[in-house]
Amino acid sequence: MIQTLEWTDSGVRFIDQTKLPTEETYVTCKTHEQVADVIRNMVVRGAPAIGVAAAMGIALGMKNSKAATGAELKPQFDQICDVMGKTRPTAVNLFWAIRRMQDKFEYLRMRPVPQIKQALIEEAQRMHAEDIAANQAMGRHGATLMPASGGVLTHCNAGALATCGYGTALGVIRAAIEQGKKIHVYADETRPFLQGSRLTAWELMKDGIPTTVISDNMAGAMMNQGKIGAIVVGADRIAANGDVANKIGTYTVAVLAKEHSIPFYVAAPFSTIDLDTPDGSKIPIEQRNPREVTHFAGKAVTPEGVEIENPAFDVTPARFVTAIITERGIVRAPYEEGLRKLSEEPAAALST
Ligand code: MRU
Repeated sequence: MIQTLEWTDSGVRFIDQTKLPTEETYVTCKTHEQVADVIRNMVVRGAPAIGVAAAMGIALGMKNSKAATGAELKPQFDQICDVMGKTRPTAVNLFWAIRRMQDKFEYLRMRPVPQIKQALIEEAQRMHAEDIAANQAMGRHGATLMPASGGVLTHCNAGALATCGYGTALGVIRAAIEQGKKIHVYADETRPFLQGSRLTAWELMKDGIPTTVISDNMAGAMMNQGKIGAIVVGADRIAANGDVANKIGTYTVAVLAKEHSIPFYVAAPFSTIDLDTPDGSKIPIEQRNPREVTHFAGKAVTPEGVEIENPAFDVTPARFVTAIITERGIVRAPYEEGLRKLSEEPAAALST
């Protein structure tokens, strides 16, 4: 199994996703600042993985603290949470994870420091295990929506590498294949960071899942030729009304899906659902370094000085989404009602 990130005695260890698919190397962060850097530089990426990385970063920062009391720890804890919160703005899992660590800290703050430190480490590890369980549950629910055979298109990487294991969108595909469905994955290349061609193709090939990489501008032609029976993608944040922020280019795929009457599914855990954000227009969209667009493999591919836009995400309006697959079940429009109802269900529903 791919270990995207893990807590170890010597620090938080990450597979370096900037080096894939040509090199499988790992980095171990020994400080919370290093964890913030690997999130910012996309050594680790993907909404659920970012959330758990931040939680582990907070636990690591606390472990390294010299504070003697909970009261002394508190300002350091707040400062570390602040550093983590400034890494990437769109994936709400980051803020969900910070909030969960804050709640834990509040609950523990009167305890002796070693106990606080240990409990925070355990909380981050619990989030890691829960994420894998959520993906497996999502897989079980979502597999029923996949065609018995044929092409399934995905965009970006919503796989084991974007999570703590198994994946959201790729988890649905994995579960469908485990049930005997004969699926062939079409992976959008996903310019400019190439999460589809570098990461999705890498992890699917490792599992022996039939995969074809296409450049983003080929998706419409593949749909028109009848090669795609369903589309499944992940999400970085889902607003209360069902609008979905995901990797730039997702919106284009969703609009094309509608034109070709192909179901467009979004697979995401509840840690990605943001019921406090009413609709997609309120989701902050990260703007990344123009160099990701101007250069390819270190070589300039645009004339120097040309204007560049590089939004990392776009928003797909809920009307293009056929269903949202969560660990608690499948939600269809009207999304606000369905998402709120499922969010109130006891967590025990997860195991079903
Ligand atoms: O910029 P990235 O690589 O972090 O963006 C990742 C995505 O957009 C994924 O589709 C999303 O986080 C879902 S991952 C399960």
